[in-house]
Amino acid sequence: MSEDYTIDAFIGDVKRILAEDGENHSAFERIQEKMQTLVKNPEYTEIDEEAEAGNIHSGRQSRPLYEDESGMILVRARFGPEAMTPIHSHGSWGVIGVLKGRDHYQVWQRTDEGDGPGEASVELIDDRILEPGDAVILPPPPQDIHAQQGHDGEATYEFVLFGKNAMQNPRLYFDPEAGHAELVHLNR
Ligand SMILES: [Fe+2]
Repeated sequence: MSEDYTIDAFIGDVKRILAEDGENHSAFERIQEKMQTLVKNPEYTEIDEEAEAGNIHSGRQSRPLYEDESGMILVRARFGPEAMTPIHSHGSWGVIGVLKGRDHYQVWQRTDEGDGPGEASVELIDDRILEPGDAVILPPPPQDIHAQQGHDGEATYEFVLFGKNAMQNPRLYFDPEAGHAELVHLNR
């Protein structure tokens, strides 16, 4: 039951799934299903947006709700409606689940041989609206490339699980027109 499905239970399931399957697509799909249950728990979906303004700082991500020595981390993120994020990657696989609001979500794919900064070609392969309760997989690098924005004038709030410590990883920001990727270091 989603009412009872807590972050602790979710993390326990994620660890068990990874131990059983390894870090592969079948594991990510199983984790995606668990995320869909987690983001329906009213304990997490009832968000006071005014109070949140001060809680989620400039990186738009909460302090970790879970993190451990394996590098796994769970955060809650807010994406405002004002602008699309840069097209970016985190250097980690992940699973994103929508708690509240709708998310204009773009998936980009790297089409050159590279995986680092410098010359880089990317193309848009999916552009969709995620609804509350939806979850998507962020594939392993170098294909963990996306951009997102709160849809229809409203912010969206999401849980984001990263397999590795994406809050400390440098990110890549992509410029499709210039054919270039830039390494960006973000502070917490
Ligand atoms: Fe991201």
